[in-house]
Amino acid sequence: MEMDDVRRAEADHFLPVVKRHPVALVEGRGSRVRDLDGRWLIDLMAGWGVTCIGHSHPALVAAISDQAGRLMQTTNIFYTLPQTELVVALAECAPPGITRSFFTSSGTEAVEGALKLAHRATGRSVFVSTSGAFHGRTLGALHVIGTEKHRAPYAPLLHESVRIPFDDVAAAERAIDERTAAVIVEPVQGEGGVNVPGDGYLRSLRERCHAVGALLICDEVQTGIGRTGKLFACEHEGVTPDILTLGKGLGGGFPVAAFLCTEEVAATVQPGDHGTTYGGNPLACAAALAVLRVVEEEKLVARAADLGDRLAERLGAFVASRPDRALSVRGRGLLQALILADADRAAALPARALERGVVVNVTAGNVVRFFPALNIPEEELWEGVDAVLTLVAD
Ligand SMILES: Cc1ncc(COP(=O)(O)O)c(C=O)c1O
Repeated sequence: MEMDDVRRAEADHFLPVVKRHPVALVEGRGSRVRDLDGRWLIDLMAGWGVTCIGHSHPALVAAISDQAGRLMQTTNIFYTLPQTELVVALAECAPPGITRSFFTSSGTEAVEGALKLAHRATGRSVFVSTSGAFHGRTLGALHVIGTEKHRAPYAPLLHESVRIPFDDVAAAERAIDERTAAVIVEPVQGEGGVNVPGDGYLRSLRERCHAVGALLICDEVQTGIGRTGKLFACEHEGVTPDILTLGKGLGGGFPVAAFLCTEEVAATVQPGDHGTTYGGNPLACAAALAVLRVVEEEKLVARAADLGDRLAERLGAFVASRPDRALSVRGRGLLQALILADADRAAALPARALERGVVVNVTAGNVVRFFPALNIPEEELWEGVDAVLTLVAD
């Protein structure tokens, strides 16, 4: 198939809800992806923050192939060994007190599960979320999403929930009360523009939730599995939520996500309260186990912290040299953002970068987000970043 054939077929048959680049990707190796025309591109986006150990890591490919040849799918009414190993592995590495997991196939389903669980645990129905937050696209997740553009088209189908400004402790104190089932928050807002809250914000939410009997849900679909330089971003503040969601990096490219909780929360549900056909099937769990092993063996959490600091420095030097083009840098670990002065230039950047052989993402209008694989070779990172900065400076 040639690129023109792909475009024609898609124009005729794909549901037009996504604006696509005129590029078809056919292969990925480490932090490079190859397009249909045979060009290798540097990937600074990692499949939207998913391929945390790079594309087609041999350990992940071997784990998936091995499990695929053994048992791909059963149902949750049977134990399977990969799932047993995975619940134990997650309990061992999760923040203290988080001991239970349930698996889904996407981050948004993990959020759904978390919201349902919070309702069961508290008997309350009011959710507090933050403006700018992204939690997925199902109706439950849209209920708490903080971006009007995603919520508005479906508003008639959604319940009201309480939205507070992100990183505003006083607003949180006012909004979270005895009617609140849970506060859901990303420790660093990803889609909303890589917004890093001030020190102590998560801790304040934790304390306020304790005081009124509400639960704290940390949505770590984007920040989890080492992305921010800790295995879980809530560890930066030493905060343990009641419920934690994971996705993206957990499967390194295989669709697997999870919601985790404390013993106390788990004690409030019973068989039948939730379920899924595919969630946590043996193939998905084998993939997640392989990712966790690679992240540990290759010390990728420490690497994300170190490389992230150096990336922030490099971007900071650019801001200092070109304040006309870039306003600031923010982020944690290998979730970094360069804030551009001009939203139109930002919007045009991903397509221009593709022409120069780099996959880069722009979010929230003028925010260039860098979230490559945690094991991206340094030379590829700097080559990709320099190409992007040259375009920004242009
Ligand atoms: C913080 C957060 N939560 C939930 C989701 C939804 O995950 P998925 O797209 O896998 O459904 C995302 C996706 O970007 C996310 O960043």
